[in-house]
Amino acid sequence: MAKVIIITGASSGFGKMTAERLASHGHKVYGICRREMQHDKIQYIQLDVREPETIALKVKEIYDKEGRIDVLINNAGMGIGGALELTTKEELETQMNVNFMGCVNMCQKVLPYMRRQRAGKIINLSSIGGIMGLPYQGFYSASKFAIEGFSEALSAEVKGFGISVSMVEPGDFATNFTASRKNSQATMNDPDYGPIFKRSLALIEKEENGGLKPEVLAKKIEKIVDTKHPRLRYVVANLEQWFSVVLKRLIPGNWFVDILVSYYKTKPTPGKKN
Ligand SMILES: NC(=O)c1ccc[n+]([C@@H]2O[C@H](COP(=O)([O-])OP(=O)(O)OC[C@H]3O[C@@H](n4cnc5c(N)ncnc54)[C@H](OP(=O)(O)O)[C@@H]3O)[C@@H](O)[C@H]2O)c1
Repeated sequence: MAKVIIITGASSGFGKMTAERLASHGHKVYGICRREMQHDKIQYIQLDVREPETIALKVKEIYDKEGRIDVLINNAGMGIGGALELTTKEELETQMNVNFMGCVNMCQKVLPYMRRQRAGKIINLSSIGGIMGLPYQGFYSASKFAIEGFSEALSAEVKGFGISVSMVEPGDFATNFTASRKNSQATMNDPDYGPIFKRSLALIEKEENGGLKPEVLAKKIEKIVDTKHPRLRYVVANLEQWFSVVLKRLIPGNWFVDILVSYYKTKPTPGKKN
């Protein structure tokens, strides 16, 4: 059956691919993003997920027009790279406000309608970075850990109203996410952190650019939209990243940190300019 679906971050990457896929399969799709977009099958709404009042107005417009909202996909997001010590308050606020508060704002404005319907599905984009704290992407990880805690708790609060909450945890994918990442200048310029950050950033970007295609994730989200009883979590990643998720659950925390240190080469080399 055709569903009324709101998806954020629908101008690029996962969001665009998923919106197009769902719309081409007959769903009524409302795509949210900041830039102006047009598509014959998608109703685009220009909106910043950091603006709760505007979200409330637009969500009401959708509900008044359609009479229901079946699915909310919180996908809008961006990354800030840098050392946790040197990332500025403004950078941290941007990271949390877009990734975490954006998801919260959307949920809070859509939930009253879903509760009234006693039905609905919320799908929140987390990340493998929401399962493990990634060095030099620490505040990005923190924003996704926040989504994890929020989504799990929300699931327990709204299940009784017939609303499901799921998290999608992608590994590395080739999207505009890499080019849009904002990197901390203070970290770049720091004599200790700078060289290590540049080294680990090069590795992160290489993995993202060589990552899976966003179509893989769009297909998975469509499956979640279609399924009657969605799971709470879906990891979507290559074999190596899957393995890291399993390993993280099995081994002591300090061992896992040692693996991160060695994988991202975050130790300064003694006696050498890093
Ligand atoms: N690519 C990966 O490897 C990867 C891995 C794990 C998780 N993820 C997560 O997947 C989600 C989508 O990422 P992507 O890879 O598809 O990145 P992308 O290609 O850069 O797309 C990001 C989308 O978010 C929108 N957006 C950003 N800030 C916004 C704001 N304040 N208000 C409304 N929309 C905003 C952008 O649209 P406008 O610029 O037009 O607003 C764009 O449509 C993110 O939550 C990301 O953290 C990505």
